[in-house]
Amino acid sequence: MTVGPGDGLAERSVEAVRRRTDTVPRAAIVLGSGLGRAVEGIDAEVEIPYTDLPGFPEPTVPGHAGRLVIGTLAAVPIAAFLGRIHFYEGRDMTLVTLPTRVAATLGAEVLLATAAVGGVDPSLPAGSLVVGEDHLSFLGQNPLRGWRDDDGRPPFVNPAEAYDRDLADVALKAAADVGLPATRGVYAASAGPTYETPAEIDYLRRAGATVVGMSVVPEVSAAAALGLRFVGLYCVTNTAGPGTTHVEVEEVAASFAGKLAAVLERVLAEI
Ligand code: HPA
Repeated sequence: MTVGPGDGLAERSVEAVRRRTDTVPRAAIVLGSGLGRAVEGIDAEVEIPYTDLPGFPEPTVPGHAGRLVIGTLAAVPIAAFLGRIHFYEGRDMTLVTLPTRVAATLGAEVLLATAAVGGVDPSLPAGSLVVGEDHLSFLGQNPLRGWRDDDGRPPFVNPAEAYDRDLADVALKAAADVGLPATRGVYAASAGPTYETPAEIDYLRRAGATVVGMSVVPEVSAAAALGLRFVGLYCVTNTAGPGTTHVEVEEVAASFAGKLAAVLERVLAEI
C-alpha cells in the first residue's frame, strides 16, 4: 500500500502527540534549512523528537533538527516542525507529505512553510523574502500519487488554490515593516540534491520561476488535498547557480531569523 491517507501513519503520530498534550494547533509551521531560530520565541509545551513519531525517519541533513514543538507563538497555538523530510534524502515522495498530514490531523487550519531558496529572478538579491503565489514542479513524481480520499477517489485537487492571498498580503506588509525586502513569486521545485546548472537556471527563468528550492511542493499539494490554507515564506540565500554551497545556504538562512520571526508572528495574529 502507498503511504498516504488511510495508512494510519498520521493518526499514529497524532496518538503519540496526544499522549503528551491536548493542545489543538491553529497553524503548523515547517522550518527549513538553518531557519529553526525563527521560532525561538515559541512558548513550548512539548518537544517531541521525530524518532518518537511513528513513520518519521531521522533527518540526515545537518541543519535539520528533527523535532515537533507544540506550544504558542504570538498567542496562537501552533505545531512547529523543525526539520523536513526531503525527497533528495532518498525518502519516498509520499512520505515527504507526512508532516503536513500530521498537521491536518492535529487540527491545524493553516500551514506556514519556510524554506531557503536560490534566486532565479536576477533582480532578487540574497537576503530578500519571496512569498509564494504559485509553483512549478520538477520533482518528477507527484507527491499525492497513490493517495485516496475517504470515498476512494484520487485527490483531483488544484494545489494553486491552497495559496492564501490574504495571509500572503499580511506577510508582505509585515516584511516591509521590518525592513525585509519582499515580493510575491513562483517557486520551482527541483528534486535535488544537485544545485542548478546555468542552462537549468535559464530554463527556469523562461518558465516563469522566481526562486528554486528542493521542497515545499509536497507540502502545498498535501495542504490542498487536506483543506489547509498555505503560506510559503521563502528566504533567498543565494543567487541560483554554480558556487552555491549548503554551508552558505545555512549561514545566510540563519541571518533571516529575527525578521522572519516577526513576519511569522504577524501572519499568525491574522489567522
Ligand atoms: N537551489 C536549490 N535549492 C536551494 C538553493 C538553490 O540555489 N538555495 C537554497 N536552496
